[in-house]
Amino acid sequence: MKDEKIFSEIYEDVIARSKSSDREINNHILKILRKHKIKKVWDNACGSGRQAIFLSNKGYKVLASDINKDFIKRLKNKRKHLNLRIKVRDMENPPNEKFDCIISRFNSICHLNKKGLETALGRWKNSLNKNGLIIFDIFNKNRILKDIPNYEFIQRAMERDSKKIIAFNKTKYNKKSKILKSNLKIYLQEHFKKPSINKMSVKQRIYSTEEIINLIKKTGLLLQEISEPKGGKFNQGKSLFALFIIKSN
Ligand SMILES: C[S@@+](CC[C@H](N)C(=O)[O-])C[C@H]1O[C@@H](n2cnc3c(N)ncnc32)[C@H](O)[C@@H]1O
Repeated sequence: MKDEKIFSEIYEDVIARSKSSDREINNHILKILRKHKIKKVWDNACGSGRQAIFLSNKGYKVLASDINKDFIKRLKNKRKHLNLRIKVRDMENPPNEKFDCIISRFNSICHLNKKGLETALGRWKNSLNKNGLIIFDIFNKNRILKDIPNYEFIQRAMERDSKKIIAFNKTKYNKKSKILKSNLKIYLQEHFKKPSINKMSVKQRIYSTEEIINLIKKTGLLLQEISEPKGGKFNQGKSLFALFIIKSN
């Protein structure tokens, strides 16, 4: 619970901090949704709502859900449109309704192990209307494992208004379990009050593009395209993320 709160508090400052990159990625997703005449979207593992808010502002009917209750509470406070519904929900368990598109951005599927992801893909497929889409991205294994420093590094040092944040990260990859574990140490300080020091770990299952392609085939889904999240050509050696566009039939 404490980790949930800290994570949602620092998320947009420390983890998902590039607003210009957000805009470009959201615009690329918008292009895909328009091309496929999508109307109703499930933003699955929505976090702070970066995609859900954007898409509901564009007139899409959006269900935004996340397992972290604190993200959901914060998102409810930011909601401007009634076409955005917001719920606590495990990504593996779709609600009892159909969507034209399921989105799960920023490597959210890494929170599922391989069996869980296979189950989830099968269930997501059944939650889609005809010609439905699934869009998610993963870290590009080749690039991320090459880039990880083997020392503790400063992930973020920032000051805004009266708030200062310094986040240290020490990351370790376990080849056997394929889990990347990031140990974060986050100093939060208001004015010159005594800083709070928060430690938390985030575990991510690192998938290769081949593993995902095989799971897509196994669940009877159709891979449409792999690109960079902004729409550029995916490069195994260089791209940081791989965005998958998948069709239900
Ligand atoms: C890296 S964040 C991405 C959030 C958002 N999609 C974005 O682009 O900012 C991963 C999210 O997955 C959520 N999450 C982790 N496990 C989950 C699960 N089993 N079901 C639903 N959400 C989950 C976390 O709470 C977190 O909000």
